Amino acid sequence: MKIINSIFHMQALAVAPEREGRRIAFVPTMGYLHEGHASLLREGRRRGDVLVLSIFVNPIQFGKNEDLDSYPRDLERDFQLADACGADIVFIPTVADMYPSGFQTTVSVHDIALPLCGASRPGHFDGVATVVTKLFNIVRPDCALFGRKDYQQLAVIRQMTADLNLPVEIVGMPIIREGDGLAMSSRNAYLSSSERQSALCLFRALTRARELYSAGERSVAILARETRAIFEKEAAVVIDYVEFRDGVLLHELENVDAGTVLALAVKIGKTRLIDNTVFGEEL
Ligand code: PAJ
Repeated sequence: MKIINSIFHMQALAVAPEREGRRIAFVPTMGYLHEGHASLLREGRRRGDVLVLSIFVNPIQFGKNEDLDSYPRDLERDFQLADACGADIVFIPTVADMYPSGFQTTVSVHDIALPLCGASRPGHFDGVATVVTKLFNIVRPDCALFGRKDYQQLAVIRQMTADLNLPVEIVGMPIIREGDGLAMSSRNAYLSSSERQSALCLFRALTRARELYSAGERSVAILARETRAIFEKEAAVVIDYVEFRDGVLLHELENVDAGTVLALAVKIGKTRLIDNTVFGEEL
């Protein structure tokens, strides 16, 4: 497994597979890897001849009062996991190389990036779209794998890839959860043990909404009220949003159907957690 810091070196390494018709599979991350990331890497290993992982805590996708400085990092452990999953290249650019002084171009996806996390984190998806475009131009992948855990991020990247005719296949992957249902996230490391318990209400809320849906309930007003009630029982939890949206374009809806996404974001202490489920699909 090669560890590459230089953008120039990474671009040069991508040329040979392209010329020889070998497929590059790419998993972009911010590191502090867990089983969710590992699932993307394993699928990438299956789909690509060359598997590239990037680790880059992207400053431009963090708001001023967010956790850029405290974002968890452990490169040694990341290398072990990447190696075990069969990564060929780990690309770790520096902030100074990715955003040299004078940098002034961003990629901005419009409607689909506005609600949900886009509303709570202004500028976040411009930061994501910009870094993912840059990474695609550096790594030149044939396919790139993203988790459905970040549902809106995946929708934004799909839209951007189509709109800009980027020659990359975007692969969406299932949410990997802990045994008790908490979606894996690098940010779970911030939770105290009592916050970790409170965080289970995300899974309880998704499960409750799915039960009601299975019993025939379709009204967003009723489902939203019942879902919110789960969080209101947890003193430590502050709701950011509870939203039922069209699963592709993220439009607002009055009735839930197969393909509707329930997207949740809450704050527990200082930690912001998101989760989601699509009705009619597996949890
Ligand atoms: P990061 O949070 O490190 O996540 C990297 C990838 O892992 C994303 O595609 C994310 O959806 C996926 N992932 C995280 N937790 C998961 C889980 N429990 N199950 C399945 N997949 C999971 O998302 C980012 O980094 C950044 O925004 C990035 C796309 C790298 C751009 O900076």
